[in-house]
Amino acid sequence: MSLFEEIGGMPPIEVFELNKLYADDPSPLKVSLGVGAYRTDEGKPWVLPVVKQAERQIVEDPSMNFEYLPVLGLEAFTNAAASMLLGGDSPAIKEKRFLAVQAISGTGALRIAADFLAQVVPNITRIAYISSPTWENHRLLCLKAGFNEVREYRYWDAQKRGLDLNGMLEDLRAAPERAVVIFHACAHNPTGVDPTQEQWRKIVEVVKERRLFPILDSAYQGFASGDLDADAWAVRYFAEQGMEFVCAQSFAKNFGIYNQRAGNLTLVANTANNLANLKSQLTILVRGNYSNPPAHGARIVSTVLNNPQLDAQWREHIKTMSGRLKAMRALLREKVEGLKTPGSWKHITEQIGMFCYTGLTPKQCQFLMEQHHIYLLKSGRINICGITTKNVDHVANAIHQAVTTIQDDDVDKKA
Ligand SMILES: Cc1ncc(COP(=O)(O)O)c(C=O)c1O
Repeated sequence: MSLFEEIGGMPPIEVFELNKLYADDPSPLKVSLGVGAYRTDEGKPWVLPVVKQAERQIVEDPSMNFEYLPVLGLEAFTNAAASMLLGGDSPAIKEKRFLAVQAISGTGALRIAADFLAQVVPNITRIAYISSPTWENHRLLCLKAGFNEVREYRYWDAQKRGLDLNGMLEDLRAAPERAVVIFHACAHNPTGVDPTQEQWRKIVEVVKERRLFPILDSAYQGFASGDLDADAWAVRYFAEQGMEFVCAQSFAKNFGIYNQRAGNLTLVANTANNLANLKSQLTILVRGNYSNPPAHGARIVSTVLNNPQLDAQWREHIKTMSGRLKAMRALLREKVEGLKTPGSWKHITEQIGMFCYTGLTPKQCQFLMEQHHIYLLKSGRINICGITTKNVDHVANAIHQAVTTIQDDDVDKKA
């Protein structure tokens, strides 16, 4: 008998499953609104011109080789990443009260953070709080890191299709001291709804009051407003308030280098005293995990961020991407409203970033997939980049049909 025979299976990962269904669908009408990746108006991935230019520079650099990077990564990259996040004039940077660790994209940075908090930092309550809803990997990675429990704090108010601030504050107030809380730094996935600055102030008050430990997840800097500094406001506010925190950065989306797995974890402490020990702990964590990170993606980001001309070009690319998102939101809303689809659709343009939490029910989503070849998550989250000037009518008509024909749970009879 095999040792492996009795192992049960695990459920598929919805977003990857959806991708496969889309790829296998022969229909010319098919639309992918699932995976969170940027698409052009032709529905194609976009390799940013500045990334191509940086790659050429890297390849042609005679000093380039494939030696191992240090365990904590390429310093030119991690320093530039921390500065892009905290701001060039950040007191934490000037006073050297921070550590930056290269990571396997945003997910890897979150995982280092969760491992570090669950396994190394004393006096942390091994209960992690995640928003309801959130990017589904938050729960999994906290559990894998060794948190005993993952709890949800209220975030989304389905009635008003906006932030449930009171519910959120109430849940955070009820959290045990030194529990860990994951916050999305901007462009919340999946709802596209961020707290306002005033609301962030209230949230930070409660975090302080309850002595909670924040993990900030910054996967979309630049995608919310098109402006890197504006999108880092919440992170910088935590720093300004003297909070200790960690922040996971992904460069997958804002550089369009998804499979290069370029990420960074920044730790901000309120003293520089013990950073050498923390650094050695993080080094051992990474060493026992994957030893040292891959270089290419980090080299691309570092080449761009450390060159003012390339950096300026990149900031323009970010405006192009976020601008297209805004334009597609406006167009989709106009089309759905033009069809007099029942309900309010202003949330399509009120939400920001890559995603729109449409409010469509799981049955309506199923109907869109089965009847109209439009692939989206069961939660009703759509990736706005999947909308183009060519497919928007098809998508709007399908949404109209779904909303007008599929009420509650009667999809099985209609579809
Ligand atoms: C909220 C959030 N955090 C983190 C990530 C991590 O992305 P990656 O590991 O590709 O950088 C994502 C990606 O979809 C995300 O949406």
